[in-house]
Amino acid sequence: MAGNKFVGSIHNLDLFSYLHTVYPAIRIQKSCAEDIRKKLFEIRAVDGERKFIRDGEWVEIPIRAEMVEEAKKYGEIVEQCKPLFKERPPAPFDIIEKRMDIGEKKALLPRKWELFVDVLILKIPEQLEKHKLKIAEIYADVLGARTVLRDVGGIGGEYREPLVEFLWGDDAETVHLENGVRFRFDASKIMFSSGNIDERVRMAYLPSHNEIIVDMFAGIGYFSIPMAVHSRPKKICACEKNPTSFKYLRENILLNRVEGIIEPLLGDNREVCPENIADRVIMGYVGKTHLFLQKGFSVLKDMGIIHYHETCPEELLPQRPILRVRANAKDSGYKVLGINLRKIKSYAPGIAHIVVDAKVEKRN
Ligand SMILES: C[S@@+](CC[C@H](N)C(=O)[O-])C[C@H]1O[C@@H](n2cnc3c(N)ncnc32)[C@H](O)[C@@H]1O
Repeated sequence: MAGNKFVGSIHNLDLFSYLHTVYPAIRIQKSCAEDIRKKLFEIRAVDGERKFIRDGEWVEIPIRAEMVEEAKKYGEIVEQCKPLFKERPPAPFDIIEKRMDIGEKKALLPRKWELFVDVLILKIPEQLEKHKLKIAEIYADVLGARTVLRDVGGIGGEYREPLVEFLWGDDAETVHLENGVRFRFDASKIMFSSGNIDERVRMAYLPSHNEIIVDMFAGIGYFSIPMAVHSRPKKICACEKNPTSFKYLRENILLNRVEGIIEPLLGDNREVCPENIADRVIMGYVGKTHLFLQKGFSVLKDMGIIHYHETCPEELLPQRPILRVRANAKDSGYKVLGINLRKIKSYAPGIAHIVVDAKVEKRN
């Protein structure tokens, strides 16, 4: 056990770990190594980052530092001075960079991307225009994508549609799994914001079991489906104006078996959303959401909660969205019982995507 230190007690090891990283191992005779190895794997004590070290008749089994107390009943604990680490597979970007033969322009290659199962969305700068097909081919190969889309204009328009160009493959339909929910959509026609994941998860677990909910901007079911799957409200009216999104909303309802909970409604929410029925209203839209607040309040029962989204310059936070909700509540005959603002993500430099949760009650 050349160079190893014997670590007699856990207290010694604690002290070591304050000073430097410790690499504990159990040193045992080869003849009993197999049994001990199995037991240590069972209690998840083996450090998967390091290799076993064979030294004549002895074997050192690497142990996770936090498992030393548990592991020491199986043998003598030593601290390895020269641990052997397993080689890590290279990161995908390193492989891509190596395979691209574009000299100094490699510095411009996208280091981040969106991958929905096997549909990849890339932002490729103008300077790489003439290499875009080669880039698509190599990224597709390394990341296992069947289709590569180039994001050429972000998300825009009333329907919040992505502006993309097909670089590789011709079918962008995918089924993305998130938090136990399956979202089918065509990534060349429909947005899916990875940055909103925390909000989708938060909405999924709100205590809405006994509620009637109206989702005014349902899209493909970004909020409605996780809520139906995880909280099983009495009913969700999910309203969507874009026929393409609506088609996927209906498919996702069936795919997640929540057809008994969600009623999809096609059309402009100002025309098709029922009024005076909701315990909770979801207004998950950005851009001009404030223009829909009057409708949002008309959908509520005498008491309820509104989740109002907007994109707002940082310097106008938190006042602007809160004042907008308060003013519309007042005009609609409601008093605000409680109000809270959360930042969902940074939307653009200096602009935040936020959500205001407001609990309101009708004035007498
Ligand atoms: C794309 S979603 C917003 C995304 C969502 N916040 C998320 O978590 O990713 C907004 C949806 O509202 C729909 N929409 C826009 N105006 C509408 C209206 N007046 N009535 C119903 N749906 C509308 C758009 O077509 C779009 O599908």
